[in-house]
Amino acid sequence: MNLKCINCSSLFDTDSILYNCSKCNDLLEVEYDLDKISNNLGSNWRDSPLSVWKYQDFLPIPDGVERVTLQEGGTRLHNSKKLSSFLGIDELHIKNEGDNPTASFKDRGMTVAVTKAKQLGAKIITCASTGNTSASLAAYGARGGLKRIVLIPSGKVAYGKLSQAMICGAHVLQIDGNFDKCLEVVMELSSKYEDIYLVNSINPFRIEGQKTIVFEIFEQLGHVPDWIIVPVGNAGNVSAIWKGLNEFLQLGIIDKLPRLVGVQAEGSAPISAAFSEGKMEVNYIQKPETLATAIRIGAPASWKKALRAIYDSNGLATTVSDKEILEGQMNLAKLEGLFIEPASAAPIAALKKLLRNGTISSDEEVVCIATGHGLKDPDIITKFVEKPTEVSSNIDEIQKVIKK
Ligand code: F0G
Repeated sequence: MNLKCINCSSLFDTDSILYNCSKCNDLLEVEYDLDKISNNLGSNWRDSPLSVWKYQDFLPIPDGVERVTLQEGGTRLHNSKKLSSFLGIDELHIKNEGDNPTASFKDRGMTVAVTKAKQLGAKIITCASTGNTSASLAAYGARGGLKRIVLIPSGKVAYGKLSQAMICGAHVLQIDGNFDKCLEVVMELSSKYEDIYLVNSINPFRIEGQKTIVFEIFEQLGHVPDWIIVPVGNAGNVSAIWKGLNEFLQLGIIDKLPRLVGVQAEGSAPISAAFSEGKMEVNYIQKPETLATAIRIGAPASWKKALRAIYDSNGLATTVSDKEILEGQMNLAKLEGLFIEPASAAPIAALKKLLRNGTISSDEEVVCIATGHGLKDPDIITKFVEKPTEVSSNIDEIQKVIKK
């Protein structure tokens, strides 16, 4: 097992504290000896219940290392019949990552990264965040007994997320700048001070945990779908999904790959812009905007991995407006009873568009990744959903109101 540079293929020890290639500065990923995994796996590996650590053979943590876990993964996959018929598609499933311990997909990567941090002897962990990563870091840092520092853009983090970070004892630093600025600062901080360990998704161990989402989808469906649609912010998750799929393919566990759709909000869409021009390079956006604050990112750190995943899967990157995002969020809640946060609804909004323009056909099977719980960002709902009706406690009056 090695850390391998995605550009110059230089190899590094997985026990080195390294976030970028020390030769060319590009992104790193964990490379396994897949034959060894295959030999270890055994024939009954599918018998145990779903969880991130079920796939420990695919994770970069040696046997015997104590795990920092809150029992993450094993999230539900909902066959969403009413939303399917509303959108005009036969088979649509929602992978509800809000089922995780801190209510977002970030926990899958955080359990692995924080376990690794402890194994490497780190005492302080840090990240930049639009909210969910900071909540997850705070929880796993608490569980693991590590000091935790999070940097967030002032005024742009939903209160549900911020309160999680605060109650779990993170030192929360708000800066006058966006997520991209926060990331720049924590990267500098962790490179200057070796005892501060960075657990943003640029950390290749985060990606390893996150890839387990597709292992679960395969097990839950019994096959891979035609399409997986995922919101894209800092671009770690779409990269992780593609890595997991390719590992299962190389091991012969699956025999085909789905096409990936990366969805960004219109005002924060550097990857989608590159894709629409057929480019392999991303131009950063200086002032990203969207009410889906989780994906309000203009300089995604993992853009190169993400673009490769999207092109290699014969997939696509696209955008949706804030209005379409809120509509998708509302439709899922009203038709299926699933309350997810705005960024998580971007795939549903994108699916509607892609069905309408014929890119996805109604007989194809789709999985939308719902990345985080709706209670993370309740304020947004009070802004666009009908307010509660004021009534007196008189039942005749109540009946009059109901009839209206
Ligand atoms: N959905 C939600 C709910 C998120 O919180 C994020 C990222 C994404 C999608 C995008 O995933 O960054 O891997 O492309 N949130 C990060 C954070 C940036 O700090 O919590 P990505």
